Amino acid sequence: MESLLLTSENISQTQKLARQVAKQLKGGEILFFSGPIGAGKTVMVKEIVKELGFKKTTVSASFSLLKKYKGDKFNLYHADLFRLDEGEMFNLGFEEMLEDHTSVLLVEWPEPAKSFFPQNRLEITVILLEGDKRQIRFKAIGKTAQKIIEGLCKKKIQNKIII
Ligand SMILES: Nc1ncnc2c1ncn2[C@@H]1O[C@H](COP(=O)(O)OP(=O)(O)O)[C@@H](O)[C@H]1O
Ligand SMILES: [Mg+2]
Repeated sequence: MESLLLTSENISQTQKLARQVAKQLKGGEILFFSGPIGAGKTVMVKEIVKELGFKKTTVSASFSLLKKYKGDKFNLYHADLFRLDEGEMFNLGFEEMLEDHTSVLLVEWPEPAKSFFPQNRLEITVILLEGDKRQIRFKAIGKTAQKIIEGLCKKKIQNKIII
């Protein structure tokens, strides 16, 4: 199973979905979040961080572009690469994140830096529909991400389309 398409009617449905994703993370996964401003990318990231029990960042770069959370089992990075140009990445401590294969990486606006990340990842795209409605698409590249989609398919989730 490589893709999953679903709709969210409101923020709590998106948060519930994010919690289901969080429950499948064991460390080492890369999740990309794409979509326009206000789509709900940060809503999902924050809910994943909360569900995994991360409370506060331990290392945060001077920019809010990269945050690191330290956990008992694994660490987590949250990067927001909005409007970042490639050259800037390497002044911001991104090498540490890119060389870390045991942490979970959650990356908003990955587009400018896609080529720096390993191929295996779960790509999440949020599309704005009318009002609070969102379409959320999961695309797996590689086995680890496929397993996450398969896990989601087993859960009771609203308006699910498996493609
Ligand atoms: N179905 C929905 N899913 C997620 N967020 C929603 C939804 N409906 C409304 N919202 C609102 O949209 C906004 C999303 O903001 P945010 O997550 O910061 O966007 P992004 O990071 O994609 O720019 C929040 O204010 C949230 O309350
Ligand atoms: Mg955001």
